[in-house]
Amino acid sequence: MPLNTYSPSTMTRSLAKHVKVVEVGPRDGLQNESGPMLHASVKANLIDQLAAAGLTHIEVAAFVHPKWVPQMANSAQVLQLITRHKHVSYSALTPNMKGLERAIEAGVDEVAVFGAASESFSQRNTNCSIAQALERFEPVAKVALDAGLKVRGYVSVVVDCPYEGPVSPSMVADVAEQLIDMGCYEVSLGDTIGTATPGRMLEMVNVVSQHVPVGQLAGHCHNTYGQALANVLMLLEAGITTFDSSVAGLGGCPYAKGASGNLATEDLAYMLHGLGIKTGIHLDRLVRVGQNISDLLGRTNGSNAGQALNGQAC
Ligand code: HMG
Ligand code: MG
Repeated sequence: MPLNTYSPSTMTRSLAKHVKVVEVGPRDGLQNESGPMLHASVKANLIDQLAAAGLTHIEVAAFVHPKWVPQMANSAQVLQLITRHKHVSYSALTPNMKGLERAIEAGVDEVAVFGAASESFSQRNTNCSIAQALERFEPVAKVALDAGLKVRGYVSVVVDCPYEGPVSPSMVADVAEQLIDMGCYEVSLGDTIGTATPGRMLEMVNVVSQHVPVGQLAGHCHNTYGQALANVLMLLEAGITTFDSSVAGLGGCPYAKGASGNLATEDLAYMLHGLGIKTGIHLDRLVRVGQNISDLLGRTNGSNAGQALNGQAC
């Protein structure tokens, strides 16, 4: 494996020594597949392989309406079939109490509520306004916390909305702060359509971090315009140390036409390891997982590092 190290001491701010990677491929990636629903055993096998490759936070399912996101309809079965690892947190999206009840019954470790920073995206994604979504999340967070589950929050369209254009950073800050106030331990900032460039990302985070401590923020960068790694580096410099990514760059968003997958986990790990930042990920194993799922779905591997390392004995 080529070594491409770059001393963090040469960066403008000293970077974290360890980054938490949240693998969202089995949810954010597979939710977007247009073919027939992947069998639960195929998804469970992917999740088990990701755990074996060192991922410790895996978003495995979404307890949303199956009519809206048909690929997630077998979420409960997926959770049944996973071989649980003690060191792994298995999480799922829960937009409302009905979703939370299903998630608790399925035995998740963690749930995530997902809001948006634009009204149009909130309506398209969850069929309600931003305020109504936040109102629905209140009891979800309370009951989940009472049940001993961790609760994560998302804010989508933090820079641009596919329906409204540029989004005000103060809207993002407002939603993020409300998610933290209701008990989310972390808020993941979603560049849902991948249009953000590093300067705009920084501008947004500078505003949000005046309301939510930077240690409770995460980056969720879709790679539609090839900006995701650059955006992650900018967010790292701003002090964020948790990033979401998707094996083989799988995915997109069903409510954001043209949005491509998240930053590939292989590309993220390659860059972080090159910076001397630990992730706990075994990149060689992950590369095989990414190639296997790409072959299975009949698609080109969306990870540059994955493709490059696949061509070598890794
Ligand atoms: P709704 O239709 O407004 O819900 O959907 P409702 O409360 O009016 O109920 C209508 C029917 O749906 C009822 O059934 C409910 O029981 C049922 P009926 O009485 O008619 O038979 N229902 C449910 N069924 C199963 N599971 C549930 C559930 N809730 C209600 N949880 C809802 C509201 C939010 C459920 C719907 O809009 C939905 O499922 N949306 C899907 C949203 C989604 O999954 N989007 C993609 C994930 S978010 C994303 O990708 C962005 C992210 O990656 C970050 C980024 O990139 O920015 C996280
Ligand atoms: Mg996403």
